[in-house]
Amino acid sequence: MKNNPLPRLDVSEELRQQILPFCRLHTGEVWVDPTGHHKVGCIDAASTSAVLDLMDGEKAHLAIHDPPYNLVAFEERELGEYIRWCQQWVGNTVAVLRPNSACYFWLGADQRHGFQPLPDFMVMMRQTALRPRSFITMRNQRGYGTQKNWMAVRQELLYYIKGDPEFNIEAEYTDIPKILRGYYKEVDGKLTENGERGKSENIRAGNVWVDIQQVFYRMDENVSGCYAQKPLKAIERIVRASSPKTGLVVDFFAHSGTTLLAAELHQRRCFTADIDPVFCEIVIRRLEHFRATRRLGWQNGHPFEKELPAAEWAEASEPTGEKHEPELQTTLL
Ligand SMILES: C[S@@+](CC[C@H](N)C(=O)[O-])C[C@H]1O[C@@H](n2cnc3c(N)ncnc32)[C@H](O)[C@@H]1O
Repeated sequence: MKNNPLPRLDVSEELRQQILPFCRLHTGEVWVDPTGHHKVGCIDAASTSAVLDLMDGEKAHLAIHDPPYNLVAFEERELGEYIRWCQQWVGNTVAVLRPNSACYFWLGADQRHGFQPLPDFMVMMRQTALRPRSFITMRNQRGYGTQKNWMAVRQELLYYIKGDPEFNIEAEYTDIPKILRGYYKEVDGKLTENGERGKSENIRAGNVWVDIQQVFYRMDENVSGCYAQKPLKAIERIVRASSPKTGLVVDFFAHSGTTLLAAELHQRRCFTADIDPVFCEIVIRRLEHFRATRRLGWQNGHPFEKELPAAEWAEASEPTGEKHEPELQTTLL
């Protein structure tokens, strides 16, 4: 079995150059889905004119953003500069959200550098029109760390709202059955057991998500070459909780196109963007591949296998594990 048919594109500039001629979009261009549901823009999220061009007057019910985290392993900027950059694309997002809408941000905290940029981002957000609602942590199965520290297994997700949007609580229920019995409470003068009180046999995800498998090479949804892919299940949960059927979702940091695929799966529309034409092409191909095959990704293949079939890197490279691993020493739980 080919376990990693395409190496990480961020560390293989030569491969990027090979792929670029096959990319449909150039900087500034927008691909419109032939069904009219979705759009993919090859744009800079911080450019107001480019974002407005992508939206073409439409307003979104939900934004899900997963920007580069300013960690050393990726492109690192001076912190103040990074936060000013965040202010720009958050401002663009606020401008294209409906009066009652939701907004989610994935962000990291670098424990070796004052936990930046998470707290700085949170403070900056106080100056915007968005109100904080929840601080969610998603637990990874694989972690990174040394023998002298707690293993790092978390991913942070901030939930903000504009106005007073709907929240579909059905989306919060996990597949994990309730096991705690015998917890009694008086409701309307009657002593009830917690099983009777709950709406479901299963537990709610709450703000610590422990039931989501992070993406690795053996999963159907894996998009090899992508280094920061979020699990589809997490994005589906957000889409179902915070947008109505046929509603419009935006994501300005598309990468592998997880948000667009979740929108397609749940009858929402999605306008998404990435600054890199290679990732824009991957997003478009992931949607086309799904529509043609019902496959969520390329478990044993990759998006460019027609153009680059016999890749010499296929056997040599490491499996594409969970993708934000700034330290080399990883531990499998
Ligand atoms: C952390 S990844 C997003 C992962 C995505 N949630 C997924 O599940 O595949 C960040 C992406 O943002 C893109 N990016 C970086 N700077 C950008 C900018 N200024 N505007 C738009 N996209 C940008 C990168 O090319 C990268 O693909």
